[in-house]
Amino acid sequence: MSHETPAAERPLTTALAEAAATAGHAPSVHNSQPWRWRVLPDALELRVVRDPKLTATDPEGRLLAYSCGAALHHARVALTAEGWTAVVERMPDPTDRDLLARLTGMARAEADPEAMRLVQCMQVRHTDRRPVSEEPVPTAALGEIASAVAAEGCQLQFLDRDNVLELAAVASRAASVEAEDSQLREELEYWTSRAGTGTGLPPEVLPAEAPQTTVPARDFGRPGTLPVGPGHDRAAVYGLLYGDEDEPDSWLRAGEALSAAWLTATRLGISVVPLSGVVEVAGTRQTLRGLLAGLGYPYLVIRLGLADPAHAGPPHTPRMEAAQVVDTSAVRSPDA
Ligand SMILES: Cc1cc2nc3c(=O)[nH]c(=O)nc-3n(C[C@H](O)[C@H](O)[C@H](O)COP(=O)(O)O)c2cc1C
Repeated sequence: MSHETPAAERPLTTALAEAAATAGHAPSVHNSQPWRWRVLPDALELRVVRDPKLTATDPEGRLLAYSCGAALHHARVALTAEGWTAVVERMPDPTDRDLLARLTGMARAEADPEAMRLVQCMQVRHTDRRPVSEEPVPTAALGEIASAVAAEGCQLQFLDRDNVLELAAVASRAASVEAEDSQLREELEYWTSRAGTGTGLPPEVLPAEAPQTTVPARDFGRPGTLPVGPGHDRAAVYGLLYGDEDEPDSWLRAGEALSAAWLTATRLGISVVPLSGVVEVAGTRQTLRGLLAGLGYPYLVIRLGLADPAHAGPPHTPRMEAAQVVDTSAVRSPDA
């Protein structure tokens, strides 16, 4: 028999701390986990930490905001699953740009089964950089993923054959620009040699050799140990996540939309890999804007496909301990 307190009786601050800890499963650029949470008696605050080892990769903090946005969406869904509603204020303090969100006005609601299902998806979602299988992605699934993005105020455009070929050219241009940038190479070296810290990318999740893909994947500068097999991901679908504005609060929303898309894809058995090199380089980001033909600003490219069912995928990428990212000191009783 379980001795856990039923969710309905658990104090709000426990639910907030648990939601913040659950958000630790979110994806982040180079697994940097740039989010820090503070639990208050009636609020939850999300801050970004700007790691100096991402200065060349992400000078504007766009990828950091996407990553924190993904964590924000995870926390929102976790609260909904526990039967709480919250008001989300994004970038609530113009004098404190690192305070990305504040969740307030928590009220009781019915626990939401769809949100519960997505919380389960958080535990299994991961980045699988192997080529996808030959099996096509069902059109209905693409529709569901695009709807999940739209519900977060962004759009997802699936690229046709011509646009995929253009994206391939843009991605290889971005890769050459990045390969020539020594500071950027140093940053990659840092994030791929973080064993034991709970951050960064261990060799087990990086391909042992460059996978055969239509659009070049990120070159992490060193081979990993993940076997990729001979497949070519011809059946992959590429989507361009975009929106109306190109400002820090829209980047946060882009991250929320990325999380919504990725968790929905996970529920449908579809693998997602973000390709952010093309938006890290200003010139190639501008070219992507052309692909959108005036519809909006590009945030991120994602590859969708069915993972190779015949071989085991990569293991989970490590995470920091919850205590390192969730500050509960404001709600802890002095003798606790
Ligand atoms: C904003 C953002 C950009 C990313 N860019 C890339 C990328 O260009 N190539 C790649 O292989 N993975 C990329 N990723 C995936 C992360 O490396 C991955 O989420 C992180 O290492 C944690 O691993 P997990 O997704 O398996 O939990 C990106 C993730 C985010 C959130």
